[in-house]
Formats: sequence, C-alpha cells, structure tokens
Amino acid sequence: MRKKMALLVSLVAAVMISATNVVAGEVEVLHWWTSGGEAAAVQELQKMLEKEGHVWKDFAVAGGGGSAAMTTLKSRAVGGNPPTAAQVKGPQIQDWADLGVLTSLDSVAKAEGWDTTVPKVVSDVMKYDGSWVAVPVNVHRINWMWLNKSVFDKNGIAYPKTWDEFFMAMDKLQKAGVTPIAWGGQNWQEATVWETIVAGVGGNDFYKKALVEADIAALKSDTMVQCFEVMKKMKQYTDASAPGRDWNLATAMVIKGEAAVQFMGDWAKGEFTAAGKKPGTDYDAVPAPGTDDAFLFNIDSFIMFDVKDADAKKAQSAMARLILSPAFQTVFNVNKGSIPVRSGIAEDPFDMIAVSAMGDFTDTAKSGGLMPSMAHEMAVSPAIRGAMFDVVTNFYNSDMSAADATMKLAAAVEEAKM
Ligand code: BGC
Repeated sequence: MRKKMALLVSLVAAVMISATNVVAGEVEVLHWWTSGGEAAAVQELQKMLEKEGHVWKDFAVAGGGGSAAMTTLKSRAVGGNPPTAAQVKGPQIQDWADLGVLTSLDSVAKAEGWDTTVPKVVSDVMKYDGSWVAVPVNVHRINWMWLNKSVFDKNGIAYPKTWDEFFMAMDKLQKAGVTPIAWGGQNWQEATVWETIVAGVGGNDFYKKALVEADIAALKSDTMVQCFEVMKKMKQYTDASAPGRDWNLATAMVIKGEAAVQFMGDWAKGEFTAAGKKPGTDYDAVPAPGTDDAFLFNIDSFIMFDVKDADAKKAQSAMARLILSPAFQTVFNVNKGSIPVRSGIAEDPFDMIAVSAMGDFTDTAKSGGLMPSMAHEMAVSPAIRGAMFDVVTNFYNSDMSAADATMKLAAAVEEAKM
C-alpha cells in the first residue's frame, strides 16, 4: 500500500513538472482588450500560460482602437521599462524593430512551422529583416453592419443591401421611434465607418487608390465627395449622446434593441457573444451596403521586448507558441469575433458569421477584394492616417461641406507625405 502511494505521489509530481515546463516566468502583457468580449478572449491566453506555470501580469490600458495603449507603451519604453509583451500592429511593428528592442521569435516560429501555417501577406508584416518579431493573433473584418433582428422584423423591414435601401430603412425606423444608428463619436470609430463607406460607395479599386496608396487624385475626386455625403447623411439617424461614446456601448444599444444598426469591425460580435446572443436569432451581420466583395482586414499581433531574465524569456516563447496553437486560435477567436490567422483550424466551433468571414477571406484574397484597413493601422503611415482621422472627424462634427472636406483631405494627406 505504502509502495503504491509513493508511486502515485511520484507520478503526480512528474505530471505536474511536465505540465509546468519546469521553469516558470512572468510576462507583463500590455493590451487594450477591456470590453466584455475582448476580456473574455484574452483571458484564455492568461489561463493557458498559467496552466504551464507562468505568471501573467495584466497591463490593460482601456480605449478602443488602442491609441491610449500606444501612448502608454511609448512612455514605458522611453523610461527604459517596457513590458514583456505588447499588442502592437501593422507598420508600427517595423518601427519598434528598427529601434532594436525586440526579441526574435524565429526559434518558436521554426519549431511550430509558422512559415507554412501563416499566410505570407500576414507574415511579411510580422517579420523584420526576414526574422519573426511579432506573432499574429487573428483576422478581423471591418466592413460589417450589425443588426438587431427583432427591431427589423417588428417593423417589417428587410436588411438593406444598397445605400438607398439603407437610408429608406433608417427613415422608417426613426418614424417608429427607434434610434436607427448606434454611433460611437470617437475619431477612430468615425474613421472606421468612413473607410467602410469609401469601399461601399467607391468600390475596391477606389478604396485601394484612396486609402492604401493615398493617391491625391482619388482623395480629391467626386467619388470622395459622395463618400463624405453618405457619412454626413448618417448623422441625422444618430442620437444626441453619440459624441464620445465607446464602441461597446454603441454595440450594447443594438444588443438591447435601443438602436437598429452599428457599423463596426467584428470585435462587436464578441459583445453579442458575451451577452449570450445568437446570430440568426437575436442579431445578424451583413457586409455594409456595396461591400459584399470587400474584406477590409485588421490583424492583431504581439511584439515581445528583449528581456534579460531567462525565465521571462521562456514565458515569452511559451506565449508566442500558445498564441498560434490550434486550441488558442479556436477559443480566442470564438470569443473575440475574429477568425483564425493560421490554417488548419476546424470551422465547427465558429458561428455562421465567422464561417462566412472565413469564406469571404479566401474568396477576396483571390479576387483582389482583400484590402488593409486604414483606420486600424494596416494601410498607410501613421502621419497619413492621422491626417485622414483629423479631416474625417472635423467634417463629421461640424457643418463643413462634403466638397470642402474632400479638398481638405487631399491637402492634409499631401502635407503628411512630405
Ligand atoms: C483592434 C481590436 C479591438 C478594437 C476595439 C481594434 O483596433 O484590432 O482587437 O477589439 O480595436 O478596441
């Protein structure tokens, strides 16, 4: 009996040692995932790391779109005290790598076969001088319209497919006493709606010229005037409390049926999921009018700073490995509203909206409709993006005409290019 007990104890100990990977380290992780859906998603990473014996020090900086988080990150780095890992994306990855402060993730990448599972368009952004310096987490689609199903059903209105149908529906809903559009009045949210309109009104080639190439002729074209007109027309269908509203509070309005629609990336789905709502029953998502053939993509990623402590290094590589593991890609993206960024992940755990996004991701990659989001730092330089944000927000929040906004946009981008 005693022998049996001793054997059992040593077996349990052996299992525990292998489960914790022997050495535990701490990772301090800076991110801006603080809404219900976002927090549920990122907590899965924390749980997985803790299961391997590591310690997660949460460094969440609230603020949708991440600009507050980026300001905090810069001040911590300037102070010589960066976190172990930080949510950073797009061209900013290259900027951090340029400073020589990042850890190479090549050994994890090699062991895990990232070069074969992650699409090249994505890995190009994650690599600096051919070396992996960031790990991608997901793919978000921007150009969605989120709809409260019973609000549409009760009022006998079909989901609009064109901008004309859209504004007719908004009129009817307003007359019925519903707030038609749930609007979050912050610059990055306004830029998010605007880029969706640019794709929907101008089409894919126009989007690429204007918001990826920052082509001045496209920026000051009549098509751009029309885009601004559509954006301003939306304003009459928003409520008086829109200015300053956080994106997830706008989503909550649609969840509760206080508003009919929201234009937002599919992190909004994370909020519906966290509230226990089901697509097709409680709500739906359709591409914004005119954007069926467009997939404006936004990829989240983490960079890891060069740390001296050997245990912290182990925790960093565990975090990188876990992020692209099939188990995490599934549970995280189901909660976050995004789709997996690597191949080989089963579709079944995902809802119908995610499955349609997966299909559209593959189709638009072939057709040319897969395009980087300007608002979410995938397309243009920070200076050009800042110039675009300023003009769009000033336009939306003033009585500036669409024609003036167009001229101002072209001038501001021209200046930002210098
Ligand atoms: C990020 C998402 C995040 C959203 C709202 C986007 O820029 O890519 O992951 O959920 O901002 O905070």
